Amino acid sequence: MKKIVINGGHPLKGEVAVSGAKNSVVALIPAIILAEDVVILDGVPAISDVDSLIDIMELMGAKVEREGETLAIDPRGVQDVPMPYGKINSLRASYYFYGSLLARFGQAVVGLPGGCDLGPRPIDLHLKAFEAMGAKVSYQGESMRLATDGNPLKGTHIYMDTVSVGATINTMIAASRAQGRTVIENAAREPEIIDVATLLNNMGAHIRGAGTDIITIEGVERLHGTRHQVIPDRIEAGTYIAMAAAIGEGVKVSNVLYEHLESFISKLEEMGVRMTVEEDSIFVEKQDQLKSVSIKTSPYPGFATDLQQPITPLLLRTQGRGNIRDTIYEKRVNHVAELARMGAKISVLSGQIVYEAPNSLSGAPVKATDLRAGAALVIAGLMAEGRTEITNVEFILRGYSNIIEKLTELGADIQLIED
Ligand code: EPZ
Repeated sequence: MKKIVINGGHPLKGEVAVSGAKNSVVALIPAIILAEDVVILDGVPAISDVDSLIDIMELMGAKVEREGETLAIDPRGVQDVPMPYGKINSLRASYYFYGSLLARFGQAVVGLPGGCDLGPRPIDLHLKAFEAMGAKVSYQGESMRLATDGNPLKGTHIYMDTVSVGATINTMIAASRAQGRTVIENAAREPEIIDVATLLNNMGAHIRGAGTDIITIEGVERLHGTRHQVIPDRIEAGTYIAMAAAIGEGVKVSNVLYEHLESFISKLEEMGVRMTVEEDSIFVEKQDQLKSVSIKTSPYPGFATDLQQPITPLLLRTQGRGNIRDTIYEKRVNHVAELARMGAKISVLSGQIVYEAPNSLSGAPVKATDLRAGAALVIAGLMAEGRTEITNVEFILRGYSNIIEKLTELGADIQLIED
C-alpha cells in the first residue's frame, strides 16, 4: 500500500499546470471503439484511470501507443468479447464501454461498474436509454449483457429523469451509430459532454446541442479517425486554486478555462479571495482574512459536487461559520471525520456539513475515502502544523496526475512512500 506523507506549514509559490480532464478522457477512450481508423488524443493526464482504460482496450484487442500525454489508439482489432471483469469494477467510468460496444457489435457483456464510495451510484438511466434504443438487458451472475439481437440500435426520444453526466454521454456515444435521430432531453451540460461530442463529430458523427439540456444526434453508418486535444481538468484546476488560496504566497494555476469554473470562482470572490484571471491561467495571491461562506452543489453550471470536498480546507481558514449541502451525492461527507481528526471544527448535521472557522489544523494519520476527499486531505495536510500521513492514496492517484511532483515544485514537503 502507498501513503502520502506531508510536513505541513510550508507556503506554496510558483506555477502549476493543469492536465487534461479525467472525466472527459474516461469517456473519450471507450468512444474510440466506434472509429474505423486510428484516433490520436493529446493532453491525456497521467492518472491511473487512464492506465486501467488502456489495459482494458488492449485486452479487448485495440492497439495503444502512449508517448507522454499523447495516446494513439487503433480500435480496429477490438473483438466482441466479454469485458475483462477484474479491470471493469476498478472504475465506475467503465460503463462508457456499454454504449460503444453496443453500437459497434450490437451487444456488450460487462461486469457491473465500481468507483468511489459516494453512496449508491445507479446506472438505471443508462440502461433505460439503451432499452429505448432497442437493447435488451439481462444478467448472468456478476455480469450484465446488453444486446440488440442483431438489429441496429434505433434513434429515439429520451427524457432523463435525473440530470446525469454519465447517462448523457453514454447515450450520445450509442446514438452516434444508431439508425435515425435521437433526442436527449434534460441532458447534463458539463464541459466534458461537449468534449466527447467534439471528438465524435470530428470522427464523423452528427451531434448538436451538447452543453445544453437538449442534445440531438443523427446516427451515421461509419466513424473515421481523427486527432483530439482533451480539455483541461476543471476539477483539478479548482483543487489547485483552492489550495493556492489556503496556503499559497503567489501561485499561478495555468491551462485553466475560466468559463468552466465560473460558479467556483464567484464563491471564492464571495469569500474575498484575491486573484487575477488571465487568458488561460489564474494567479492567486497570498490571502489575508477571508469570510466564511455556505455552498450548495448543483449540476453544471452550478457549483460542482467534485469541488465541495477540495474547497473545504480553505473554508476552515476563513472567519465565521457556514454549511455545505451536496444535492447530487448526499453521502459525499466521508472526509469530514478525517478533517475533524486534524482539529477542524466540522461535522455532518442532518445531511449537510457544518463548520466553524478559523481552525488551526494539526497533522494526523488520516485516510482517503474517495478521490476528492483525498484531495481535501492533501490540502489540509499542507496547511496543518506537523506531519500528516494519508493512506488509501490510490484514490488520489486515480484523478490527480503527477500530484507529488506538482506540489513539490510549489515548495511543499510531500512524499509518496510504500507503506
Ligand atoms: C460524473 O459521475 C463524474 N464522474 C463524477 O466525478 C461527478 O461527481 C458526477 O458526474 C456529477 O457531476 C465521471 O465523469 C467519470 P451522474 P456520474 O450520472 O456520471 C444519479 C470525480 O470525483 N444517477 O451525473 O456517475 C446519481 O446517483 C467523480 O471525478 C441515477 O440516479 O454521475 C447522482 O445522484 C465522482 N441513475 C446523479 O444522478 C443513473 O443511471 C448524478 O450522477 C445515473 C446517475
